[in-house]
Amino acid sequence: MTMISVRVFVVFMLMLEQPKPAVCKTNSACTDKMDSMMFQVIWAGLKSLKLETNNQNNGEKSAGGSNYIQWGRSTCTSRNSELIYGGYTGGSSHTREGSAVTHLCLPKEPQWGVYDAKVNNNPFVGAAVFNVYDINIKNSLFDKSKYDMYSFPCAVCHTKIGSSTLMIPGRKDCIGDWNKEYTGYLMSGWPDHKSATEYICVDADSERLKKASNWTDKSILYAVAAKCNGVLPCPPYVDGREMTCVVCSK
Ligand SMILES: *[C@@H]1O[C@H](CO)[C@@H](O)[C@H](O)[C@H]1NC(C)=O
Repeated sequence: MTMISVRVFVVFMLMLEQPKPAVCKTNSACTDKMDSMMFQVIWAGLKSLKLETNNQNNGEKSAGGSNYIQWGRSTCTSRNSELIYGGYTGGSSHTREGSAVTHLCLPKEPQWGVYDAKVNNNPFVGAAVFNVYDINIKNSLFDKSKYDMYSFPCAVCHTKIGSSTLMIPGRKDCIGDWNKEYTGYLMSGWPDHKSATEYICVDADSERLKKASNWTDKSILYAVAAKCNGVLPCPPYVDGREMTCVVCSK
């Protein structure tokens, strides 16, 4: 809006700056000439205004924004964000020490490059599954009959407003002037499994995909609890309580 008012002001100044026609044969010829000059100046001003507005819009679309993954959902639920693609939450094996730590959002339509037919011992990525262990709360992410052994989707999202994203553990609301994208619960692998994992924030209202028949060759995700280990301030933290999380943008 301020850019537009500056533009209008500049156009107005240009009009004032136009040299008066030196010689006009009649009064009406003079007025005609002034009118046509003013028209040209205003027209040029309007054209540059339109060009600028277009450039600004294009610039916002291509340059701004930030990406994040909404684990557990096939779409981005925030009105601030648009879906880049939806897919399957992928990970490596929980039984192998050298397993890759991160989880990936695998697209629904993979493309292949060069490949051979054999299945060897190379690193792999499969679909990850939930293990609802020792918690069973109906209508929650910890509902055993709903989620245990199920794989789950993911959505790769792009913020339309804001250029930065942040996951805050232990919060359901963002802090300061950050805007909420989604809330959920922290999940990671089991501490006694050989593979290391990362913490991810899984949507509190996760969708589920397919139930596994065994745990073989899967990344397994469990709810993360707070641990009063002598150095974590308790309260406010509570031993054994499941950790919330929120993804925010600004
Ligand atoms: C686990 O399930 C897969 C797929 O159903 C099957 O191919 C595999 O043999 C099973 N593994 C074990 C150890 O039961």
